Amino acid sequence: MGSTAVAITAFYCTAVAAGLVAVAAVWWSTRAPGRIDVARVVEREKGWFAIVVALLLGLLLGTVFFIPYGRTSTGAQIVKVTGQQFAWIIQPATITANKPVEFRLTSKDVNHAFAVYDDRDVLLFQVQVMPGKEQRYVTTFRRPGVYHVLCLEYCGLDHHAMAADFRVTR
Ligand code: CUA
Repeated sequence: MGSTAVAITAFYCTAVAAGLVAVAAVWWSTRAPGRIDVARVVEREKGWFAIVVALLLGLLLGTVFFIPYGRTSTGAQIVKVTGQQFAWIIQPATITANKPVEFRLTSKDVNHAFAVYDDRDVLLFQVQVMPGKEQRYVTTFRRPGVYHVLCLEYCGLDHHAMAADFRVTR
Protein backbone atom coordinates (compact mmCIF):
# COMPACT_ATOMS: atom_id res chain seq x y z
CA MET A 1 0.00 0.00 0.00
CA GLY A 2 1.40 3.42 -0.94
CA SER A 3 1.68 6.30 1.51
CA THR A 4 -1.33 8.07 -0.06
CA ALA A 5 -3.47 4.96 0.40
CA VAL A 6 -2.33 4.72 4.04
CA ALA A 7 -3.19 8.41 4.59
CA ILE A 8 -6.64 7.97 3.01
CA THR A 9 -7.33 4.84 5.08
CA ALA A 10 -6.20 6.58 8.26
CA PHE A 11 -8.37 9.60 7.45
CA TYR A 12 -11.47 7.48 6.80
CA CYS A 13 -10.93 5.42 9.96
CA THR A 14 -10.61 8.66 11.97
CA ALA A 15 -13.73 10.11 10.32
CA VAL A 16 -15.73 6.93 11.03
CA ALA A 17 -14.50 6.87 14.64
CA ALA A 18 -15.44 10.56 15.08
CA GLY A 19 -18.88 9.84 13.58
CA LEU A 20 -19.43 6.92 15.97
CA VAL A 21 -18.42 9.09 18.93
CA ALA A 22 -20.90 11.78 17.78
CA VAL A 23 -23.72 9.21 17.42
CA ALA A 24 -22.90 7.80 20.86
CA ALA A 25 -22.90 11.31 22.36
CA VAL A 26 -26.33 12.08 20.87
CA TRP A 27 -27.68 8.71 22.07
CA TRP A 28 -26.24 9.30 25.55
CA SER A 29 -27.63 12.85 25.76
CA THR A 30 -31.19 11.64 25.07
CA ARG A 31 -30.92 9.06 27.88
CA ALA A 32 -30.20 11.58 30.62
CA PRO A 33 -33.16 11.48 33.02
CA GLY A 34 -34.69 14.46 34.80
CA ARG A 35 -36.14 17.66 33.47
CA ILE A 36 -34.35 20.19 31.30
CA ASP A 37 -33.34 23.54 32.75
CA VAL A 38 -34.36 25.70 29.77
CA ALA A 39 -32.85 28.89 31.21
CA ARG A 40 -29.47 27.20 31.49
CA VAL A 41 -29.68 25.87 27.93
CA VAL A 42 -30.52 29.37 26.66
CA GLU A 43 -27.51 30.79 28.55
CA ARG A 44 -25.25 28.10 27.07
CA GLU A 45 -26.57 28.74 23.58
CA LYS A 46 -25.38 32.36 23.82
CA GLY A 47 -21.90 31.08 24.66
CA TRP A 48 -21.87 28.70 21.69
CA PHE A 49 -23.09 31.49 19.41
CA ALA A 50 -20.20 33.71 20.56
CA ILE A 51 -17.73 30.88 19.92
CA VAL A 52 -19.08 30.32 16.38
CA VAL A 53 -18.92 34.07 15.62
CA ALA A 54 -15.34 34.22 16.95
CA LEU A 55 -14.32 31.18 14.85
CA LEU A 56 -15.85 32.63 11.68
CA LEU A 57 -14.22 36.02 12.29
CA GLY A 58 -10.88 34.29 12.87
CA LEU A 59 -11.30 32.32 9.64
CA LEU A 60 -12.21 35.49 7.72
CA LEU A 61 -9.27 37.52 9.07
CA GLY A 62 -6.90 34.59 8.58
CA THR A 63 -7.75 34.11 4.90
CA VAL A 64 -9.16 37.32 3.44
CA PHE A 65 -5.72 38.85 2.81
CA PHE A 66 -4.73 35.91 0.60
CA ILE A 67 -7.60 36.27 -1.84
CA PRO A 68 -5.96 37.00 -5.20
CA TYR A 69 -8.80 38.97 -6.76
CA GLY A 70 -8.80 42.74 -6.95
CA ARG A 71 -5.09 42.98 -6.27
CA THR A 72 -3.61 46.23 -7.44
CA SER A 73 -1.30 45.82 -10.39
CA THR A 74 0.31 49.22 -10.89
CA GLY A 75 3.62 48.74 -12.66
CA ALA A 76 2.82 45.15 -13.56
CA GLN A 77 3.79 43.56 -16.84
CA ILE A 78 0.64 43.16 -18.88
CA VAL A 79 0.25 39.83 -20.64
CA LYS A 80 -2.72 39.40 -22.96
CA VAL A 81 -4.08 35.88 -23.24
CA THR A 82 -6.68 34.77 -25.74
CA GLY A 83 -8.12 31.28 -25.72
CA GLN A 84 -9.76 29.77 -28.76
CA GLN A 85 -10.54 26.30 -30.07
CA PHE A 86 -7.84 24.99 -29.83
CA ALA A 87 -4.90 27.25 -29.00
CA TRP A 88 -3.64 29.92 -26.62
CA ILE A 89 -2.33 33.25 -27.83
CA ILE A 90 -0.02 34.72 -25.18
CA GLN A 91 1.41 38.20 -25.80
CA PRO A 92 4.17 38.72 -24.88
CA ALA A 93 5.36 35.16 -24.29
CA THR A 94 8.41 36.30 -22.32
CA ILE A 95 7.96 37.56 -18.76
CA THR A 96 10.46 39.01 -16.29
CA ALA A 97 10.87 37.19 -12.98
CA ASN A 98 10.29 38.89 -9.60
CA LYS A 99 8.05 41.56 -11.08
CA PRO A 100 4.25 41.39 -10.92
CA VAL A 101 2.46 40.16 -14.02
CA GLU A 102 -1.12 40.95 -14.82
CA PHE A 103 -2.71 38.40 -17.09
CA ARG A 104 -5.70 39.77 -19.02
CA LEU A 105 -7.61 36.84 -20.34
CA THR A 106 -10.49 36.36 -22.71
CA SER A 107 -11.88 33.80 -25.12
CA LYS A 108 -12.85 34.05 -28.78
CA ASP A 109 -15.44 31.28 -28.62
CA VAL A 110 -16.33 29.11 -25.62
CA ASN A 111 -15.21 28.77 -21.99
CA HIS A 112 -11.65 27.61 -21.42
CA ALA A 113 -9.49 27.36 -18.30
CA PHE A 114 -6.00 28.85 -18.41
CA ALA A 115 -3.87 26.59 -16.20
CA VAL A 116 -0.20 27.40 -15.59
CA TYR A 117 2.34 24.74 -14.61
CA ASP A 118 5.96 25.32 -13.66
CA ASP A 119 8.87 23.40 -15.22
CA ARG A 120 8.31 20.57 -12.68
CA ASP A 121 4.69 20.28 -13.89
CA VAL A 122 3.27 21.60 -10.62
CA LEU A 123 -0.02 23.44 -11.16
CA LEU A 124 0.42 27.06 -9.99
CA PHE A 125 -3.01 28.51 -10.72
CA GLN A 126 -5.87 28.42 -13.17
CA VAL A 127 -8.21 31.11 -14.42
CA GLN A 128 -11.60 30.70 -16.04
CA VAL A 129 -11.53 32.26 -19.49
CA MET A 130 -14.86 33.37 -20.92
CA PRO A 131 -16.02 34.90 -24.20
CA GLY A 132 -17.11 38.53 -23.95
CA LYS A 133 -15.41 39.06 -20.59
CA GLU A 134 -11.88 40.01 -19.56
CA GLN A 135 -10.54 38.17 -16.53
CA ARG A 136 -7.55 39.57 -14.67
CA TYR A 137 -5.06 37.63 -12.61
CA VAL A 138 -2.00 39.11 -10.93
CA THR A 139 0.94 37.00 -9.86
CA THR A 140 4.72 37.11 -9.60
CA PHE A 141 7.01 34.40 -10.96
CA ARG A 142 10.09 33.82 -8.81
CA ARG A 143 11.89 31.19 -10.83
CA PRO A 144 13.11 31.71 -14.40
CA GLY A 145 12.30 28.90 -16.79
CA VAL A 146 9.74 27.59 -19.23
CA TYR A 147 6.19 27.45 -17.88
CA HIS A 148 3.51 25.32 -19.45
CA VAL A 149 -0.11 26.21 -20.13
CA LEU A 150 -2.92 23.71 -20.52
CA CYS A 151 -6.68 24.11 -20.87
CA LEU A 152 -8.45 22.61 -17.87
CA GLU A 153 -12.02 22.97 -19.07
CA TYR A 154 -13.40 20.66 -21.71
CA CYS A 155 -14.03 22.85 -24.75
CA GLY A 156 -14.32 20.51 -27.71
CA LEU A 157 -12.73 17.62 -29.57
CA ASP A 158 -9.17 18.96 -29.45
CA HIS A 159 -9.36 20.31 -25.88
CA HIS A 160 -6.34 18.15 -24.93
CA ALA A 161 -4.26 19.86 -27.64
CA MET A 162 -4.77 23.34 -26.14
CA ALA A 163 -1.25 23.71 -24.81
CA ALA A 164 1.30 26.51 -24.89
CA ASP A 165 4.50 27.67 -23.21
CA PHE A 166 5.88 30.95 -22.00
CA ARG A 167 9.27 31.85 -20.70
CA VAL A 168 10.21 33.63 -17.49
CA THR A 169 13.60 35.32 -17.58
CA ARG A 170 15.72 37.19 -15.04
CU1 CUA B 1 -9.95 24.99 -24.20
CU2 CUA B 1 -10.36 22.95 -23.17
